[in-house]
Amino acid sequence: MPDRKYKYIKIDKQDGITWLTLNRPEKRNAMSPALHEEMDHALFILEDDPDTKVVILRGAGGNFSAGQDLKEFFRENEGKPRQGRKAREEANRWRWERLYNYDKPTICMIEGYCVGGAFMQLLATDFVVAAENATFSLSEVNWGILPGALVSKVVADAVIYRHALWYACLGEPFDGVEAARVGFINLAVPHDKLIAETENLARKLMLKSPRVLRATKQAIRHVRTMDFGQAYDYLAEKGKAIKVGDQEKSYETGLSQFLDKKAYKPVMAPFKLGTMLTDETTKK
Ligand code: COA
Repeated sequence: MPDRKYKYIKIDKQDGITWLTLNRPEKRNAMSPALHEEMDHALFILEDDPDTKVVILRGAGGNFSAGQDLKEFFRENEGKPRQGRKAREEANRWRWERLYNYDKPTICMIEGYCVGGAFMQLLATDFVVAAENATFSLSEVNWGILPGALVSKVVADAVIYRHALWYACLGEPFDGVEAARVGFINLAVPHDKLIAETENLARKLMLKSPRVLRATKQAIRHVRTMDFGQAYDYLAEKGKAIKVGDQEKSYETGLSQFLDKKAYKPVMAPFKLGTMLTDETTKK
């Protein structure tokens, strides 16, 4: 359990899914320095929380987030270098370093507005499900800055170059259907199915061996910046490492349940967690 009470975020846990909610609905969940500090702390705690198998980020009150708080994050930090640096460090740490490297699967669920600085967590999480009628905008160009911190970088990495230029330079809003078409998100669904579809994805992820899933998402992320030689080597070593610490003994269990017991088909679904082979049976 979190060891403190939060003011600007909420944590709700149910059956392995932890909902982490940006909770400033009256400000459209604009991200203030205090909110960033709380998110940084909560994600740190949840990473090894045994009740948390998947983290879903969302916003309270029907909107994901209106981005950085223009008053509290920008204006009120002008001329205060140390305070500004602290706010930037906490903001960037949870929105990028923590989420990008998170041990557990992460999902963003988007409804309403998702603006500017909120693209950092949008693109750092593993998966994004949005309402078809959500509103996305890289609005920075409309009020005198460029998409800062890492927003320009992660946008340019996520979608093809022409779409990145289009949305960053025009700053025009676009909906969930367009966000899925260009590749900012995985899935756009009708608003009334948003929670069910997001939970459905979370439940699918919870069927996999946590260790294998963690290694797989790290592999996909890290090979993007490797050349072929590095990728061969990294993936071979990573493959060995999975087997060493996998409490489910997924490799032996999977092979045996498919080849010997004819108990499941890996193309269709994972083997059931908790049905791993014992030490005795793996020796055979
Ligand atoms: N920073 C600070 N305050 C914000 C904010 C932000 N990014 N986004 C919204 N708010 C505040 C508004 O100032 C308003 O506060 P008030 O009630 O004290 O006047 C409150 O949240 C509600 O905003 P409002 O504009 O009335 O809501 P809306 O539903 O009509 O419009 C938006 C929502 C998101 C379209 C609009 O608020 C907006 O354009 N916000 C700026 C978003 C932005 O450019 N963010 C980029 C930051 S990197």
